[in-house]
Amino acid sequence: MKIKYFLALIVSTVLSVYAQKFENLVLTPPMGWNSWNHFACEINEKIIRETADAMVSTGMKDAGYLYINIDDCWHGERDSLGFIHPDSSRFPSGMKALSDYIHSKGLKFGIYSDAGWKTCGGKPGSRGYEYQDALQYAKWGVDYLKYDWCNTDGLNTEGAYLTMRDALHSAGRPVVFSLCEWGNSKPWLWGKNIGHLWRTTGDITNCFDCVVDHGSWKSWGIMYILDMQEGLRIYAGPGYWNDPDMMEVGNGMSLNEDRAHFSMWCMLAAPLIAGNDIRTLSDGTKNILTNKEVIAVDQDSLGIQGFKYSSGDSVEVWFKPLQNNEWAACFLNRSLKIKQISFDWNKENVIDTISGRKINSQSNLYKIRNLWTKKEVGNTEKILNAEVPGHDVLMIKLYK
Ligand code: GLA
Repeated sequence: MKIKYFLALIVSTVLSVYAQKFENLVLTPPMGWNSWNHFACEINEKIIRETADAMVSTGMKDAGYLYINIDDCWHGERDSLGFIHPDSSRFPSGMKALSDYIHSKGLKFGIYSDAGWKTCGGKPGSRGYEYQDALQYAKWGVDYLKYDWCNTDGLNTEGAYLTMRDALHSAGRPVVFSLCEWGNSKPWLWGKNIGHLWRTTGDITNCFDCVVDHGSWKSWGIMYILDMQEGLRIYAGPGYWNDPDMMEVGNGMSLNEDRAHFSMWCMLAAPLIAGNDIRTLSDGTKNILTNKEVIAVDQDSLGIQGFKYSSGDSVEVWFKPLQNNEWAACFLNRSLKIKQISFDWNKENVIDTISGRKINSQSNLYKIRNLWTKKEVGNTEKILNAEVPGHDVLMIKLYK
């Protein structure tokens, strides 16, 4: 017995000496909101407070959204000792007061920095100040850090993220660490023990299938980002997620497109970080962002990212294994024309290569539920026939 305690003591001492990532955070993909996609640099404490209020009053908190994340441009200057402070004209009450307000709503508080000398918006970066910044964030009560990769000439990616991971750990307050280096150095290969999620692509843009060329960089529409996830599903799991970027739902695409975007992010077990102005949420957008049955696909405890099973005539068929031997399936119509789909469960051979699970509709009859109409639509004995509108999905769950 005594030896057991002695060994436990040694293990815990070793763990506290060697820094590591905070374990047991975001065992399902993180859910929340981030200021960037809608507000870019035009942020202030009033917007953030009102967003926290709206998170509660719209039912988004109840649907699982927890993090209120401030992106770039909150920064003021460093003081003579090197500590960073917020821009006092935009955040006159200071970060601690804002964080306290967010926490008082039962929500969590996220912030943004950059591994380089300056952020992408030209504000002070964390390079050389990592431990100091981590201490400051801990004092403010920060729960989530998105860490960007602009202005990092000469830095090693893995090393730079490791430094901030260790700095956060030594500051002692558990923080979700979100790696944002756009997939350039394949963070899925090295990020699992460093962060909780990593961006897999460059920036998303509010468009179903276009690319926006900004000269030195491009931003990508929803379908482009989706295609860039190919081959990455084996790298994600509970506590370490592929991040196809924050959502554009509610920022101006059609409801069909927003529904398709949201459904696919859930099939991908993606972090669900809303990027719209939730203070002015339309009913249509709210119905998408707060559909608990679709969110449950994203938040399923197996944490297995879905996969593309087949594609043809602009329709893709995706599957995601769920707990209790259930499955989610999504028929994505990438064209603008209505498509007639027909899926014969008895002839298809769906296998998830990660878990080895199969859909065997001959030995197992599944019931089918449409997750958007929230209606039962038969079972796998019969061929599934349906129409899918342009840029939209049919999303279903198979269950016993
Ligand atoms: C980068 C990131 C974006 C956003 C901006 C802020 O482009 O990828 O998500 O954080 O910087 O400047």
